[in-house]
Parts: sequence; C-alpha cells; structure tokens
Amino acid sequence: MSAVILYGTETGTAELVADAIADVLAADFDPSIYDMADYAAEDLDTDDFLVVICSTYGEGELPSGALPFADELDDVKPDLAGMRFAVFGMGDSVYDDTFNRGGEIMAEMLSKLGATQVGEHFRHDASSTVKPADAGAEWAETLKAVIAE
Ligand SMILES: Cc1cc2nc3c(=O)[nH]c(=O)nc-3n(C[C@H](O)[C@H](O)[C@H](O)COP(=O)(O)O)c2cc1C
Repeated sequence: MSAVILYGTETGTAELVADAIADVLAADFDPSIYDMADYAAEDLDTDDFLVVICSTYGEGELPSGALPFADELDDVKPDLAGMRFAVFGMGDSVYDDTFNRGGEIMAEMLSKLGATQVGEHFRHDASSTVKPADAGAEWAETLKAVIAE
C-alpha cells in the first residue's frame, strides 16, 4: 500500500511536518507528498492511504493552501468509499473556540465522501513546547501498523 501525504498550509509549517512523516513512512509505504494547493481532487485513488496534515487559520477555517482542494472536493464529490485516511491537525490553543478546526474540517469532508478515518487524530498545539515536525515523526511511527492493517 502506498501513502499519499497531502498538506494544507498558510505559512509552511505543515510542509515540514509532511517531510518528517514521509521520512518515517519511506521504508514501507513509498510516500509521495503534495501541497493541497497543487493537488486535484480527481487524482485521489481509494487504493492509497491518505495522510492529511492541515493547519487552521482565520477563525477556525482552512488555511488558504487547502481552499482550492476543499472547494474541488465540494464540487466534484469523488466517491471515496474504501479509502482510509489519517489526520495530523495543526492549530494553537490560544484560539480556544476554534482550536485545530482545520484538520477537523478536512476529516469531516473526507468522511462525508465515504472515506474512513483511522488512527489517532493528532492535534498539534503551536503554543506547546513540542516541535511540529517531531510530533509528526512520532505520530507517523504509530501510523505504520495502522496503514499495514
Ligand atoms: C492569523 C492566524 C489565525 C489562526 N487561527 C487559528 C484558529 O482559528 N485555530 C487554531 O487552532 N489555530 C489558529 N492559528 C494557528 C495556526 O494554525 C498554527 O500556528 C499552525 O501551526 C500554522 O501552520 P502553517 O504554517 O502550516 O499554516 C492561527 C494562526 C494565525 C497566524
């Protein structure tokens, strides 16, 4: 099984996380990494395992890099039945009411289209001392067994 890693970002942090996750998955799952801004919803293949990394902007909204992909999902409504995905969300707990909504929005959209979320939904907090890429690498270790199932 191959992993497709899609990141949605405003200022580039999610890309660093994507790289760290790809490093961990490289030996077993032949990961490819794409910026959601450059990825067409039609290219989703339900045979792949999808890893979504997505930050949060505005007031609990998707980052601008994720918007074209999200709009396309809404328009095209691909049938994602049979696809499995995992989410590494990013946010900052100073935004109390909207903490980590970006990753949650993506999870809701993919689930609505028939895909199945698996593994831990990670919620990184930019106010914590844990570096996002380190958290991503640790999370990806836990994901290996889930992807292999
Ligand atoms: C203007 C602005 C608005 C933000 N809004 C939210 C928010 O509503 N909820 C949240 O959890 N984090 C929010 N964040 C925090 C970012 O999601 C967080 O810093 C993230 O690590 C950025 O990742 P990125 O560089 O990949 O976009 C906001 C950050 C900024 C600068």
